[in-house]
Amino acid sequence: MADTHDVPQKVHNESVIDSDVVIYPFTRLGEETFLSGPHITEHGIEKLLETVRTLETKDTDILLCTTMKSGTHWCHEILSMLLSQSLEYNTKGPLHHMYLDFIAYFFDKLDEVDNPRLFTTHLPFHHIPIHHVRNGYKIIYLNRNPKDRWVSNYTFLHGKLGVPDWTWDEFFDNIILKDDLQGGWFNYTRVFEKAAQTKTANILPVKYEDLKLHPFSTIKKIAKFLNVSHTDDFIREIIEKCSFDNIKKHKYDSSRIIDPKHESTLFRKGVIGDWKNWFTVAQNEKFDEIYNEEMKNCNVDFIYEYK
Ligand code: A3P
Repeated sequence: MADTHDVPQKVHNESVIDSDVVIYPFTRLGEETFLSGPHITEHGIEKLLETVRTLETKDTDILLCTTMKSGTHWCHEILSMLLSQSLEYNTKGPLHHMYLDFIAYFFDKLDEVDNPRLFTTHLPFHHIPIHHVRNGYKIIYLNRNPKDRWVSNYTFLHGKLGVPDWTWDEFFDNIILKDDLQGGWFNYTRVFEKAAQTKTANILPVKYEDLKLHPFSTIKKIAKFLNVSHTDDFIREIIEKCSFDNIKKHKYDSSRIIDPKHESTLFRKGVIGDWKNWFTVAQNEKFDEIYNEEMKNCNVDFIYEYK
């Protein structure tokens, strides 16, 4: 197996990252599974995870930690505008640019990136850079009610390269109930919530539903955490620029690389409560039962609908 640090001749070779990436069968490591791809096939999941964990970030680096389909691209654009103090679309998706889970592609280019650097990852807490956590560098942790994010995962993964042609019921039984993708949503959420509450790391928790229902106060909170200028007008303009319709038009969907036709399927509905169109009554009851057990010691609430 090649050393991870050898990888990056391919780093900014757009044709590599823009070429087909087959994500399934998922890659298994112990109890966890990860989306597959050439970065894992070539270097091995353990080596990649070690490279991420041991990454020496800077005190100005920001880590955007999210569970897949929680509004990562949306939040990434908001953070990019706040950090750059401009209303220009970043256009690069988090996946294309500084996505830790694909670090093999850009590892040797990191020093060339302007500060403050914005990294994104879907990896669970125990895989994120230790140096970043221990030194109290900033982490934005984004999450979303699990029912909507599972629906978003299903519609997103469906038809992607290598992914079986699951029905929703099969996805519910094989993926949702198993909950091992990227370490599992329950584990991810419990650990991040605890780390935020006990201040084990310097974490600002943000929820998709807060961005949707209270964008002004939520973005203001983020700006304060990042310690960047934020006039009320600037925040209002960011909200407008990052509205669902605008972001769909302007944000580069880097996840096209896993779509057979390289089409964007990322900006779908952008609403709270779509899960009701998918979960049967029985599936909803089953999920609630599991949720109540898994989350009984976790102090977090999510919004599942709004009138
Ligand atoms: P849906 O599939 O429910 O529509 P990620 O970037 O983490 O993959 O998340 C994608 C989800 O965020 C999709 O959810 C997408 O539509 C939603 N999203 C993206 N931009 C949004 C915005 N400006 N407002 C609301 N939802 C948005």
